[in-house]
Amino acid sequence: MLTNLEHLGLAVADLTAATELYTLLLGQPPYKQEHVASEGVDTVFFQVGGSKIELLAGTTPESAITKFLAKKGEGIHHMAFEVDDIRAEMARLREQGFVLLNEEPKRGADNKLVCFVHPKSAAGVLVELCQEIR
Ligand code: CO
Repeated sequence: MLTNLEHLGLAVADLTAATELYTLLLGQPPYKQEHVASEGVDTVFFQVGGSKIELLAGTTPESAITKFLAKKGEGIHHMAFEVDDIRAEMARLREQGFVLLNEEPKRGADNKLVCFVHPKSAAGVLVELCQEIR
């Protein structure tokens, strides 16, 4: 089951500048910064009530964020839903014909197991499923 809009992921060109901007916009500093080497990204997280804003900057030319920025510029990169059982949700979506970008849940930022749904099968939006690692 999808239980919450967990976060919106924003692709940014300059992580320091965007962190300062969002600190002002949200009226609070981020609670976490994290480098995810496997994805080639640096992330900064803000908590807003029950949801989060995740700023993402690419750290390698091969990073999906670097490619996204080159193609589309800064903006919303993905929306992420919290799920209670990521494998069950992946099976359910596969059955419904959605294209998943990874066959197995993988370790993402912020202590989560994640799986992505291809934007082509979700009206142009990259969708992330995430489940807290307990
Ligand atoms: Co995310």
